[in-house]
Amino acid sequence: MVLKAALVCVAVAALLAYYCNEPVPQGIAEPHMYAKMTGIIFRTALNLGRIGEYFSAGSEAQIFRSVFEAWMNVGLKLKGTSYREGLKCTDTMFDGVNVRVYEPTSTAQSDTKAPGLVYIHGGGWVIATVDTVDPMTAHVAKQLGAVVVSVDYRRTPEHLFPTAFDDSVAATKFFLQNAEKYNVDRTRIGISGDSAGGNLAAAVTLALAKEKGLPKLKTQALIYPVLQAINFTTPSYINHGHLNSLSKDLMVSFWLWYLNNDLSFKKVFEANNHTSAELKKSQYAGYVDPEMVDVKPVKKGNLKFPDIPNIATILDPRFAPLMADDADLKGLPPTYVMTCEYDVLKDDGVMYAKRLGKAGVKVNHDHYEHGFHPFLIYFDVYESAGTAMANYLAYLKKNL
Ligand SMILES: *[C@@H]1O[C@H](CO)[C@@H](O)[C@H](O)[C@H]1NC(C)=O
Ligand SMILES: *[C@@H]1O[C@H](CO)[C@@H](O)[C@H](O)[C@H]1NC(C)=O
Repeated sequence: MVLKAALVCVAVAALLAYYCNEPVPQGIAEPHMYAKMTGIIFRTALNLGRIGEYFSAGSEAQIFRSVFEAWMNVGLKLKGTSYREGLKCTDTMFDGVNVRVYEPTSTAQSDTKAPGLVYIHGGGWVIATVDTVDPMTAHVAKQLGAVVVSVDYRRTPEHLFPTAFDDSVAATKFFLQNAEKYNVDRTRIGISGDSAGGNLAAAVTLALAKEKGLPKLKTQALIYPVLQAINFTTPSYINHGHLNSLSKDLMVSFWLWYLNNDLSFKKVFEANNHTSAELKKSQYAGYVDPEMVDVKPVKKGNLKFPDIPNIATILDPRFAPLMADDADLKGLPPTYVMTCEYDVLKDDGVMYAKRLGKAGVKVNHDHYEHGFHPFLIYFDVYESAGTAMANYLAYLKKNL
């Protein structure tokens, strides 16, 4: 009994220390939101993953994932389930892929068909599930009166690229083909996702634009998306790579877990030594750096890479959508991009928005000067995240 109480005290003190010692960058709208998300939830999970792997208790990715999800589940338990009122939520399969479908009861009874939205959660292709974003997807379904399909794609490192992409494509196609079963208007289906889910949403949009015989996606809405792995020294990586909310170190780990599950290449990637001098002057480098002069166009097949498993994949738009050629961007559906200042991924999103605009795609870009990655998760608790959610919903109301 005494031992138990002592253990609880130690644990609470440790968490409090994490919370209080989290360096919060100046300029963040709600510092306690940052300290809670980053200091407690994220860093304890990541550190336990590293310590656990060191003591051979499991792999870093898997322990990180388990602890992170345990934290998020505590949050869900505390919330209760009242936020799901007015929705029918069903866990099912679309073409062999696990999905959770949210149907507003009002739209199910209505004579007119509802719009639909495929939602792909983030978490570096490694952590998080449809549960992590359950309050968010439920909120979006209710506010839009839309049927939302949240995709529970298979994650890495158990399933390397392209499994998450393939699952996302399969689920999206199934929804487009079977919209009527959900009383959904197949011409009013969009796709959205945050972080790694934004990567998958963008990749699916590019892939489906080339498919014949399918209804077109009405819009893509990308929330602080991850879009490129050839340049880890963009201004946002340089300015914010040290932030614990999503450090450069962790983002590079996520990319490697997705690419080949070999973190021994971390330092090489961080120094941009995974690309050749030729690639650094090519159009692909130019996609990340619009100021680049003297771009020397190259053919993918002719490029040399260092000896790293699967490395040529970094130019595959299914893996890194910013690597799509201009011709592939033309004709994409109207696009929404959300970026945050305190985010290594800011420039990924900014560059994609710019390139899409140049290719003639209608683009809405919301940038949050005081926002951080992944603050939208707290849309129901913190004002700045709530405002971002409202703007995102306003876009979808108009464009879905
Ligand atoms: C990375 O992109 C930035 C601009 O975003 C540019 O200044 C830098 O030279 C690029 N680095 C490499 C290695 O391509
Ligand atoms: C990156 O390449 C440069 C130049 O070849 C070299 O000096 C440096 O040690 C390399 N760094 C890493 C981490 O590979």
